[in-house]
Amino acid sequence: MELQQSSDFTKSAHKPAQNLKIREVAFEDYDQIDALQIAYKRPARPYEEWEHLWANNPAYLSVGRAWSKGWVVERPDGRIVGYLGNIPLFYELGGERLLTAVAHAWVVDLDYRPYSLALLDLYFSQKNVDLFLNATVGPAGHDSFNIFDSPRVPTGDWGRSVFSITNRQGFLAAWLREKAIPIARPLSFGLAGALAIVQSFSFRALPRNGAEHPFQLCKNIDSRFDVFWECQRRNNPHLLLAVRTREALEWHFKYPLRNDRVWILTAGTNPITAYAIFLRYDNPAHSLTRMRLIDFQALDGNITLLAPMLAWALESCRREGIHMFEIIGLRPEKMRVISELSPYRRKLPCWMYFYKAPHPKLAEKLADPNAWDPSQFDSDASL
Ligand SMILES: CC(C)(COP(=O)(O)OP(=O)(O)OC[C@H]1O[C@@H](n2cnc3c(N)ncnc32)[C@H](O)[C@@H]1OP(=O)(O)O)[C@@H](O)C(=O)NCCC(=O)NCCS
Repeated sequence: MELQQSSDFTKSAHKPAQNLKIREVAFEDYDQIDALQIAYKRPARPYEEWEHLWANNPAYLSVGRAWSKGWVVERPDGRIVGYLGNIPLFYELGGERLLTAVAHAWVVDLDYRPYSLALLDLYFSQKNVDLFLNATVGPAGHDSFNIFDSPRVPTGDWGRSVFSITNRQGFLAAWLREKAIPIARPLSFGLAGALAIVQSFSFRALPRNGAEHPFQLCKNIDSRFDVFWECQRRNNPHLLLAVRTREALEWHFKYPLRNDRVWILTAGTNPITAYAIFLRYDNPAHSLTRMRLIDFQALDGNITLLAPMLAWALESCRREGIHMFEIIGLRPEKMRVISELSPYRRKLPCWMYFYKAPHPKLAEKLADPNAWDPSQFDSDASL
């Protein structure tokens, strides 16, 4: 696709007009895309992990050649100055499989920003897609999703996170570093003491993970997860759910499992009756270590195991010295359990989760908050 700067998407350019090409991304573009992400301080990933987003993705393998992995903006000299990845995922609603597209790692060089909306337009123009889901929209992309009539997911608070501090001294040192106070470490010891007094009240109500709730920490995802998913999808036809087969979970968590960045906690042995997945989500710029709840699934929608599983995670974070434990975006009934355990809130830079259902019937179903059970497993929030 040739695009002139006189297209509908043109804004004032910083550089003289050039004929740029927008074309489908190829795996060979990795080095240039990686450089662009790094230049704009976006998270980069090794080639193997980037390729894995498609190469071993069950939805991509099923859709095959009909799927574009995304698009790049290319200068006449071959330099890539813009990128938007396009990841397919399978979801289900009412027993029907939905092909979902996730816009991933959108970035456009400042000098070529007039082309950014052209990339997003290609993404939203895909005809073979049932649903567009984006749970990692940042402040830079927020307004553009409005332009494409992509509404907010109607349940869960995706503009705020709930968190606990599980290593006071480490958390305060990171916080002071963010505020650029030079004597961060020594000062953090003193402040940690003050915070301990506050927290000793906040955590009094923590349920204990005793013999009542024997949980297992899984080192791999086995066939019991297929049995569990079959029950979940049969019991919840009214909910939009990301497909959670063993194959899908293995693909999703392949590298976190390999790098010891994920805890998969199960209740019940065979069958599994509930599971919770926690993922490391560190902020290296501030030396802040974090653990996030990614997913909690329980048979029959029974959320009584959520509190003891969270208690287990909080204890594990404290034991391992992880600074902070965080949760974003769950349904109100799950969030109520969490609010009792996690005393702090922080405002996120913007609302993060948007969707778009091109077919009016699906759009009508998804306008109902009760059709959603959102979590950080959705979209590319934990990919
Ligand atoms: C994402 C991107 C392609 C969008 O390009 P765009 O549609 O042309 O939008 P702009 O870059 O002009 O930014 C849109 C708005 O967000 C603001 N913004 C940009 N980056 C921001 C940030 N990190 N924090 C807060 N606001 C930001 C801009 O100031 C602008 O607001 P304004 O119109 O009031 O000035 C481009 O901003 C980019 O490449 N950013 C770096 C990569 C990135 O952040 N990707 C995440 C996408 S969710």
